[in-house]
Amino acid sequence: MYVKRLSLVNFRNYKKLQIDFNRKYNIIYGKNAQGKTNILEAIFLCSTGRSHRTKKDAELIKFNEDAYYIKINVCRESADSEIEFYYSKIEGKKVKINNIPIKKNIELMGKLNTVMFSPEDLSIVKGSPSERRRFIDIAISQIKPSYFYNLQRYKKILTERNCLLKDLTKNSKLKSTLEIWNESLADAGAKIINERKSFINVLNEIVKGKHKDLTASNEIINIQYQPSIRVENSWKVKEIKDVFLKRLEENFEKEIKTSSTLIGPQRDDLIISINGNDVKIFGSQGQQRTVVLSLKLSEVEIVKVLTGKLPVLLLDDVFSELDEKRQKYLINNIDGTQVFITTTEKELVNLYRNKSEISLYEIENGKIINAIN
Ligand SMILES: Nc1ncnc2c1ncn2[C@@H]1O[C@H](COP(=O)(O)OP(=O)(O)OP(=O)(O)O)[C@@H](O)[C@H]1O
Ligand SMILES: [Mg+2]
Repeated sequence: MYVKRLSLVNFRNYKKLQIDFNRKYNIIYGKNAQGKTNILEAIFLCSTGRSHRTKKDAELIKFNEDAYYIKINVCRESADSEIEFYYSKIEGKKVKINNIPIKKNIELMGKLNTVMFSPEDLSIVKGSPSERRRFIDIAISQIKPSYFYNLQRYKKILTERNCLLKDLTKNSKLKSTLEIWNESLADAGAKIINERKSFINVLNEIVKGKHKDLTASNEIINIQYQPSIRVENSWKVKEIKDVFLKRLEENFEKEIKTSSTLIGPQRDDLIISINGNDVKIFGSQGQQRTVVLSLKLSEVEIVKVLTGKLPVLLLDDVFSELDEKRQKYLINNIDGTQVFITTTEKELVNLYRNKSEISLYEIENGKIINAIN
């Protein structure tokens, strides 16, 4: 699949824009703060339903305007599709696929698979556990839309349950209601843990090879799942659910005291280590960047293998952070798929000298001032 055309109206610093893309390489270059990343953000938004930079749709509206609009035309093996996003401060968000309004983001999943590499991704290694959960959640959701659905369901149950825990301090008769919520929470939660476990198993296998190739060294990377609910024997949904329910009972008093759910997927983490040492604590800056790249390249591979489709790659400013060897490795390992690259250095084009299908777009202040197709 590939993005054929992007149209923007009042999105970030774009008043109006329409670009036709190359089905292979698209280099978006320009000085800082001209609107390069904004283009990738719009594509990512249409793919996942959310921006990689903000949760607030209002921030995406051009300053002093009331609404933004994005249209994206995707070519796929089966059929072409058109995704439209509209958000206004008054009317809220409206999303359409092929002119049919959709109600939930889940309907977007799989329509346009993307993998984004951005400077913010360093937080997968350096940031809080929620950053690592976000990484695996987005990856699994693209492969399995039902996972995304279940995750949304879990979040809703969790919010309701936390409200109930608060009320329980005032009214102990509500305890029987809590048991009903426990059942739903453990049911949705066990499915998430089970999917995360399988995904991390596959990820761990693939990332080892990618990291070795990328670093050309003896560094052995390892990804270990740290679920907040320790499962001893079987990772089947039923067994995880039983352990989950048991732990909820054990934690009852503590949860009442804190009015919050203390265990479950919302407390999961991953430990990423190199040669046995936690990269978050011991990794050098360059090592941490390379780990992120290995993880992302593995994500591409997994999406490719499990969905049979090549995801579109969105490479935001990644080359400036890599040494030449790693830049070359990256370029040689992303063949076949559509790629978007933002850069401030025109010289990057040299790396692509032997690539025939390449388009260049120079961006200045929210406009394309030069396009070479
Ligand atoms: N809602 C908005 N309305 C108008 N302009 C915005 C809005 N949000 C961001 N901008 C502007 O967009 C520009 C940043 O765009 P973007 O992040 O795409 O830059 P970039 O070209 O990727 O720069 P860099 O090379 O520094 O990464 C800034 O000038 C910023 O002020
Ligand atoms: Mg940028």
